[in-house]
Amino acid sequence: MEHLTKIKEQAKTEIEACEDNASLQQLRILYLGKKGPIQEVMKTMKDLPKEERPAFGAQVNEVKNEISQLLEERKTILEEKEMLETMEQERIDITLSGYRPHMGNMHPLMIVQQELEDIFIGLGYQVAEGPEVECDLYNFERANIPKDHPARDMQDTFFINAEELLRTHTTAVQMRQLEKYHEEGKELIKVICPGKVYRRDDDDATHSHQFMQCEGLVVGKDIQLSDLKGTLSFMAKKMFGDKRIIRFRPSYFQFTEPSVEVDVSCHICGGKGCHVCKGTGWIEILGAGMIHPNVLEMAGFDSTKVSGFAFGMGIERVAMLKYGIDDIRSFYTNDLRFLKMFNRFE
Ligand code: PHE
Repeated sequence: MEHLTKIKEQAKTEIEACEDNASLQQLRILYLGKKGPIQEVMKTMKDLPKEERPAFGAQVNEVKNEISQLLEERKTILEEKEMLETMEQERIDITLSGYRPHMGNMHPLMIVQQELEDIFIGLGYQVAEGPEVECDLYNFERANIPKDHPARDMQDTFFINAEELLRTHTTAVQMRQLEKYHEEGKELIKVICPGKVYRRDDDDATHSHQFMQCEGLVVGKDIQLSDLKGTLSFMAKKMFGDKRIIRFRPSYFQFTEPSVEVDVSCHICGGKGCHVCKGTGWIEILGAGMIHPNVLEMAGFDSTKVSGFAFGMGIERVAMLKYGIDDIRSFYTNDLRFLKMFNRFE
């Protein structure tokens, strides 16, 4: 009996330590085979008295069955383990490494345009757009530049036909907006008009026959030059830094009276004079003025009751100053090395 228990214990230890099916098979032969210890014990049965034999045989069989069961259990565990190992080894990576998506970025002119829009939307302005192929009426006549007026020469441009042209300034959009607001009976107009414009011009480092403008227009009761100054001063600080101040110089535009040229104190040298401001401490950024009474009247307003101001700036000019770009052509030649400098995601 003791011997049987030992055999069982021994078998149990070895079976549990067994790590692969082939060795397990060996153990089966070793313990349960013809030459195994169980068989050996069985052989001794004939030496026992007859009446003890059935009980003895039953005990031996029980141990045999127990070992057999242990072997089965271990077999199941090992088979599962082997299957998992094979699956792991034979795993096929069916994925293909992907392409990293190329992250584009906004064009610097778009960035500046949106910054301007943000500033003016913050002041309660609407943003308006209009057609790039414009008619003579809105581009010139409503802006107080009648046919054959010599002032037209300043903005000689690309005519599509006798009446239509590529707009020379976004003032054309302002003229459309003035008319629209008057028709809607609105008392206060606050609108900016960003967009592309076209002019016969020199094509050099600071001029282009196609460029972008952002013009602004305010009309209402008692709108004064000081309102214009306050608005532009606020815009200059937002765009070029808190320390910036502005100054007005007298100028001439057909659609404004009085008209001014607006300079901002240089954001590079702070006003002392440097190569960017050409030693003057000031940088010219836009034209502006109080809307000419003729312009208000032509749009239907009573110029004795309402007044307004308008301003217009070149978006390229603002971008060049802000980012220190010295050639306007960089904006149009699509050189990725230039454009990627404005990627705010990398
Ligand atoms: N339209 C003018 C230009 O293109 C700019 C401007 C707009 C000036 C509004 C005064 C008022 O040069």
